Amino acid sequence: MNRNGKLSVREDGRTPAAWLRGSAIDPSACRPPSPPKSGGGRPQDDVRGIGGTKRTLVCVAILTALAVAPAAAQQEARVASPDGRNVVTVGVRDGGLYYSVDRDGKHLLLPSRLGFVFRGADSLRSALRVTGVSRDSADETWTQPWGEVARVRDHHRELRVRVAEGRAPGRRFAVVFRAFDDGVGFRYEVSDSAGFGDFEMMEELTEFTFADNARAWWIPSTCCDPDRQERLYSSSPLSRLDSVQTPLTLQTSTGVQVVIHEANLVDYAGMYLARTGNRTLQSTLARWADGVAVRGRAPFVTPWRTLQIADRPEDLAPSVLTLKLNPPSRIADTRWITPMKYNGIWWGMHINTMTWGSGPIHGATTANTRRYLDFAAANGLGGTLVEGWNLGWDVDWFNTGKANFSFTQPYPDFDLPGLAAYARQKGITLIGHHETASNVTGYERQLDSAMALYQRVGVRAVKTGYVGDFTDQGHSHQGQYMVRHHRRVIETAARYGIMVDVHEPIKDTGERRTWPNLLAREGARGQEYNAWGGEGGNPPEHETILFFTRMLTGPMDFTPGIFDLLIRRPTGRPRAPEDARPRTTLAKQLALYVVLYSPFQMAADLPENYAGQPAFQFIRDVAVDWDTTRVIQGRIGDYVVVARKQKGADSWFIGAITDEEARTFEVPLGFLAPGHRYVAEIYADGPGANWRDNPLPVAISRQNVTSASRLTLRLAPGGGQAIRIRPAR
Ligand code: NOJ
Ligand code: CA
Repeated sequence: MNRNGKLSVREDGRTPAAWLRGSAIDPSACRPPSPPKSGGGRPQDDVRGIGGTKRTLVCVAILTALAVAPAAAQQEARVASPDGRNVVTVGVRDGGLYYSVDRDGKHLLLPSRLGFVFRGADSLRSALRVTGVSRDSADETWTQPWGEVARVRDHHRELRVRVAEGRAPGRRFAVVFRAFDDGVGFRYEVSDSAGFGDFEMMEELTEFTFADNARAWWIPSTCCDPDRQERLYSSSPLSRLDSVQTPLTLQTSTGVQVVIHEANLVDYAGMYLARTGNRTLQSTLARWADGVAVRGRAPFVTPWRTLQIADRPEDLAPSVLTLKLNPPSRIADTRWITPMKYNGIWWGMHINTMTWGSGPIHGATTANTRRYLDFAAANGLGGTLVEGWNLGWDVDWFNTGKANFSFTQPYPDFDLPGLAAYARQKGITLIGHHETASNVTGYERQLDSAMALYQRVGVRAVKTGYVGDFTDQGHSHQGQYMVRHHRRVIETAARYGIMVDVHEPIKDTGERRTWPNLLAREGARGQEYNAWGGEGGNPPEHETILFFTRMLTGPMDFTPGIFDLLIRRPTGRPRAPEDARPRTTLAKQLALYVVLYSPFQMAADLPENYAGQPAFQFIRDVAVDWDTTRVIQGRIGDYVVVARKQKGADSWFIGAITDEEARTFEVPLGFLAPGHRYVAEIYADGPGANWRDNPLPVAISRQNVTSASRLTLRLAPGGGQAIRIRPAR
């Protein structure tokens, strides 16, 4: 139904219901048999699927029906999620292959086309017929080395639809759909040369045709010009979109939440979504410099196209759909991968108290780094990031194509081995930095020696960066070239026992399941925009949108924790509200540690700005690894209240944030263990606090609580609240 309550009608005048009713096959003829047993699993490259417990039922009934069906007749098959609420229907109509998705018996996606466009070969979109269907299912649960939840259950039903082109060159492929209770994933699979051979793909024709003119929260992709992820979100009806990035979060008029994204992007181009019809989005792929989207050779699989589906915004997080569609960890022993908080020689460069390059206020000096390491060790942080330690910063490196960094040669005033050893003695680590400024070929040349150096001196983590609109060779940051590059970096780092945090990254499609050394990435407007962002920094609503968009794909290195919110430090004078500065209260900076999940969480301000600040205790205490995550209340763009249980401890943390409006929340503590006594340590907005002209007041209090207690959280305009709930001693 659309907003007027009318049944949507397709361009050809047939209602989708009529199309769907055209099924030639009774889907009940093809149910999986009894529930699956555990065991088994398949390697990553197996085009039939990844991991998990499988049972296959080749549907003789359907095969027979399809074999005798006349070419133009309806040929359909369905698969339903284990709870029966999400149903995918796949079929051929007039030679085109379509799928549709229903939720609770109502149309969510109307028949949406599937196919490809190639260079030097015909498009694969017509004269198609279904040659067979088979089914599978899985139910397995695994424990993550780290995460916003400790355990993930992958419970799905699978439908594999085999398709052939009824004319030369007679190409064959399959589309595999997995129906989960929290959404749907599907991908194309080409199992042998199947008429494809080597190919150059120009476009994937996957459509998402919505039944409803849903409201979308989006950032533009302006495909395929600069595809910066660091943009502010807008919200508008689907029918007003142009070309947007994923994840794309939508809310239908009946309240269904849908997030379009992708999973297991390995050797393919990142997907954008371009509106091609009133309510139709079509996949459009990031490109190589010569305009090709994907270069490949059969056999191949595409990434999974994912639709996360939920009843309420609160049910969107924790979002684990993409993890279920990635292969299990390739790192057998993950004990060296340790979530941590860290500080760094970083904010000073963004607010101009230090420089990356050499000179009188060079940040990465041996003495300065020791000071940061001392602070980290004294406050329970796991490491210190140092930017500007290596030769190459003394040119106009930023977006000029002039960058040519060395990743092995430190500035003379930076003692890399000595500082790495100093950190180790203190039980923490120096965190390395590789800014490429998009000179990717320069980085690839040095990648091995750079990682080997870090391993040799004992640097256990590295932050990478790709400032610039295109790579040095003109490829898109989200294209296949960079997808391959990022995989290469993660795998090389893993070989050298190094954890990675990527800035200006490829989008997160769940790689962390396979490569848990990929701790975090940026991939949205983070805190840095509050130092110099043209619009005066991120608006107060920013993080309440991030939570329901970017954050649904995985951890973000947002770098919270600025205490000098008026940025007095460089000049002694406060910046004005219209100048760039964090548009939050101090309590909201604390709440972001809980709200914006990352296993690699920075205490971003200068150490001197934390001195004598009782509120810093929260940053010392807050966990970075979780057993459980519960979203207590949330409205996209307005507010979020999240509770997370610390991994392996009986402690909970609550983070609550609001946009520019003051709000009050009642939070029942029913998630605490019954019968236990706890102390809530509360960091609330203090009297008169507001983001605009009085962001600093924080009221710190304690309260004895049990699972029967309720807390009242009062948030100031642009404010927040951070709470630690620990067992009473
Ligand atoms: C952009 C990154 O997001 C930022 O954190 C870093 O300081 C600069 N690049 C320099 O590498
Ligand atoms: Ca950035």
